[in-house]
Amino acid sequence: MAEFVLAIDQGTTSTRAIIFDHSGTPVSTGQREHRQILPQPGWVEHDPLEIWDNTREVVGTALSRASLTRHDVAAVGITNQRETTVVWEKSTGKPVYNAIVWQDVRTQQICDELAADGGADRFREQTGLPLSPYFAGTKLAWILRNVDGARERAEAGELLFGTTDSWVLWNLTGGPDGGTHATDVTNASRTLFMDLRTLQWDEEILDVFGIPPAMLPQIRSSSEVYAEVHGSQLLRHVPVAGILGDQQAATFGQAAFKPGEAKNTYGTGCFVLVNTGGEIVRSSHGLLTSVGYQLGTSAPQYVLEGSIAVAGSLIQWLRDNLGLVSSAQEAEQLAGTVKDTGGCYFVPAFSGLFAPYWRQDARGALVGLTRFVTKAHIARAALEATAFQTREVLDAINADAAVPLTSLKVDGGMVANDALMQFQADILGVPVMRPRVTETTALGAAYAAGLAVGFWEGTEQLAGNWAQDRVWEPQMPAEERERRLRLWKKAVTRTFDWID
Ligand code: G3P
Repeated sequence: MAEFVLAIDQGTTSTRAIIFDHSGTPVSTGQREHRQILPQPGWVEHDPLEIWDNTREVVGTALSRASLTRHDVAAVGITNQRETTVVWEKSTGKPVYNAIVWQDVRTQQICDELAADGGADRFREQTGLPLSPYFAGTKLAWILRNVDGARERAEAGELLFGTTDSWVLWNLTGGPDGGTHATDVTNASRTLFMDLRTLQWDEEILDVFGIPPAMLPQIRSSSEVYAEVHGSQLLRHVPVAGILGDQQAATFGQAAFKPGEAKNTYGTGCFVLVNTGGEIVRSSHGLLTSVGYQLGTSAPQYVLEGSIAVAGSLIQWLRDNLGLVSSAQEAEQLAGTVKDTGGCYFVPAFSGLFAPYWRQDARGALVGLTRFVTKAHIARAALEATAFQTREVLDAINADAAVPLTSLKVDGGMVANDALMQFQADILGVPVMRPRVTETTALGAAYAAGLAVGFWEGTEQLAGNWAQDRVWEPQMPAEERERRLRLWKKAVTRTFDWID
């Protein structure tokens, strides 16, 4: 009997494979970063073939590091950066264009055109989303408009579309030789094309966007056997049995199965998701409504989401674009050498501002500068920006939901930073809880896959695996918290209206 489940986490900056045992403990990891292709301001692309090569490599690394083979793996789960859009040739697996990444804002004009008739919330009733370059549908529309021959070829049934879950699944399960072309309800709910109630592609919306339905993946649940692996010798015949968009996967991995339970993942961006159970709650405060998960034929569970585009990627920017630090650890150490930001605030509106503002016209700003400010203050302001943005999202959640959040479960790379987590609790005014296993994104995908093949029995058993590592209680006096929040909000207004 196989004793492990393998999760592939196809993220924004890297692809990882993590192998979990029955207690939900990671036993082995393989990881590889891929190139961030930045052809012009606001454009972000990835090479889908590089991602697929890396996927195979990291699976091999994870297996060999633990001296395991495919016979030890009960199932494979996939989790992924959501919205990032790939279009490829069915007969060869060759992408017709680079993947257009979720952070890419090139489709603003398409959004404006569509919003001219009915406004930015034109499709919110059906999809839970506003019109924004963030979502996959606008990126697919851009490829069909701008890549030579793409529209004709898509109409002729020669091209396939998918987010990176579909891309990995199709390649894993055979590629041009019968690969399965599917996605799950959580990823489909980030396209602007899926009706949240029926969990099917909405034909009217497809028509408005001019999308040939034949190129779309089949929408399946988040936990079922989609197919067996055929595209990689290493996992040959292992069932692929779970797919969840990465933020939904982290929510699942945090065992937030009950309405009102929430988590925040500090990754490239930062995403707060709160479970609303079987109820589709439509936000009036800048949040998104998406599917949280659907296990096989059971009823879908929904979430409200506050998405923050830039969190960890701001530290990466300090490293790669400014050369201010040589690593994320150095940024953390540097920030720790000063007690505050010296009065400066950094609003990283690199892709406009997401929740709760949804201002595509915003661009980043560093304000409150004096000669006193050093690079240590700037590093600190960059880290604190994540905590302020999270506070604004939590305020929106509390305004939308009947019951206020009284604590926040956290995960993702940045939660290893104790000082940042203390500051987060201070700025929120509620406790912040870190689980023992912080690889919750991969864990969630492993859980979804393991449930489908009977490796785990049900969500109660999974909830029993959750264990707390540390909790931070708020310590900052309320007046100080409010003062800093006031200044943060003022800084945010300085980023608006920055497009000529
Ligand atoms: O919606 C984008 C999100 O799924 C990306 O997550 O962890 O790759 O920053 P991450």
